[in-house]
Amino acid sequence: MTQIKIFDTTLRDGEQSPGVNLNQLEKLELAKQLERFGVDVMEAGFPASSKGDFEAVKQIAETVKNVSVAGLARAVKSDINACRDALINATNPRLHIFIATSPIHMEYKLKKTPEEVIETAVEMVEYGKQFFDHVEWSAEDASRTDLDFLTKIIEKVIDAGATVINLPDTVGYTMPREYGAMFKYIKENVPNIHKADLSCHCHDDLGMALANSVAAVENGATQVEGTINGIGERAGNASLEEFAVALKIRNDYYPYHTNLVLNEIKRTSDMVSKFTGMTVPGNKAVVGRNAFAHESGIHQDGVLKNAQTYEIITPELVGVHSNNLVLGKHSGRHAFTDKIKQLGYDLPEDKIKEAFKAFKLLTDRKKEVTDEDLFAILTDIQTDTSNVKRYKLDNFQVQYGSNDQPSATVSLSNPNNEKVKDTSTGSGSVEALYNTLDQIILEETHLTDFQLNSIGQGRDALAEVHVSLTVDGKTVSGRGSAQDVLEAAVQAYLNGVNRAIYQKKAI
Ligand code: KIV
Ligand code: ZN
Repeated sequence: MTQIKIFDTTLRDGEQSPGVNLNQLEKLELAKQLERFGVDVMEAGFPASSKGDFEAVKQIAETVKNVSVAGLARAVKSDINACRDALINATNPRLHIFIATSPIHMEYKLKKTPEEVIETAVEMVEYGKQFFDHVEWSAEDASRTDLDFLTKIIEKVIDAGATVINLPDTVGYTMPREYGAMFKYIKENVPNIHKADLSCHCHDDLGMALANSVAAVENGATQVEGTINGIGERAGNASLEEFAVALKIRNDYYPYHTNLVLNEIKRTSDMVSKFTGMTVPGNKAVVGRNAFAHESGIHQDGVLKNAQTYEIITPELVGVHSNNLVLGKHSGRHAFTDKIKQLGYDLPEDKIKEAFKAFKLLTDRKKEVTDEDLFAILTDIQTDTSNVKRYKLDNFQVQYGSNDQPSATVSLSNPNNEKVKDTSTGSGSVEALYNTLDQIILEETHLTDFQLNSIGQGRDALAEVHVSLTVDGKTVSGRGSAQDVLEAAVQAYLNGVNRAIYQKKAI
């Protein structure tokens, strides 16, 4: 069995998904989870892109020790320097340099001749090699690149010291047989290719990202790049959990395996979905809510007789446990602390106290508190940025009648610690609340997206709201969960504004 290395780029390419912006605490928690999941390399960010990204990469490199941590750089010295400084304390750092190689990118974007592109690529790999043993080089838009040119530039960057050659399908254009053939050609025609690992990186614009990744592996790629839940630019990247489970389930067919810990999939997927606000569609392979649901009578009957009739993946394989009923009204602090440890949270004493308080409040309103509820409470508390001055809700009231215009009154404390109260109306209850908040909030705030989901099932399920906002012209996301839909909506809005304040401090 050949081991296929997994290069996770959720924190870089995934974070480039429209509307997604993770704060430093969320990136760190996700990095720790990716380590538990067993990825071989995690691309922690693009250090030259902002001070916040630089700090996040640095913090991750200092914290996560069992995984190689990579930073992305354009083929310019300042980007490489930023990676060098951000990864200074990493145990096993990797520099990832990219430059476009397709005719359209070289002519219109880079405005360089092919010879100039080769020269820059070689010069930058040599420069990076002074600071890094492991240098990955990516031919951006490789799948639309002339094969002879690709062969030539790859040979030169390997001579310059590149240890991994990545051939991205940047715009999700290629087809499996075609992409596989490119890897085969490179393997057969680049004389020094044995000195480097070959890697694939696929986007899903035509829905081919997973199939293309598998085709690359069939033709010699030993590293697969992708993201959790397949998030990423435009239609996203190849979904790593799908790739890993496909290899596992079809190990009768493929002699490949990954080091991923498959029963960490559900938790990793939930975390990514919660932090990014990108809800996983019910029918998504491997992690969708319906992935293990059998609706038709014929299927249900078959599964009852022998689960394998219609179930090729067991929920347990990916960490989905149906019997997750946990704590209730009478559960004490001890049971609660045990449970959160069991769920993999490592919280300081003050946060455990805060979480226990939130849990107790919830048990007043909800009879059965499930793992999903705890996940919502704990991740919110874990990634809370309350050390920053911020808006804090005191209380609110909404007046709604089916024939009247809704009105809302909100009291909160603002970042100057002043208590403020105001009232406004709207065409619905949420709009009335948001109009009131806009009157109170000092920043110029606009709502651009609003999503409401329930956490778990049942009439008393928690509500979770994700919003996208612009705050003083900057796009941010916010989330809030509460038993009441309107409270979740208010919390999500305030969370977005508070995150904008936090980010302003980090930049
Ligand atoms: O899709 C792409 O080409 C990339 C590169 C930066 C590797 O993400
Ligand atoms: Zn990409």
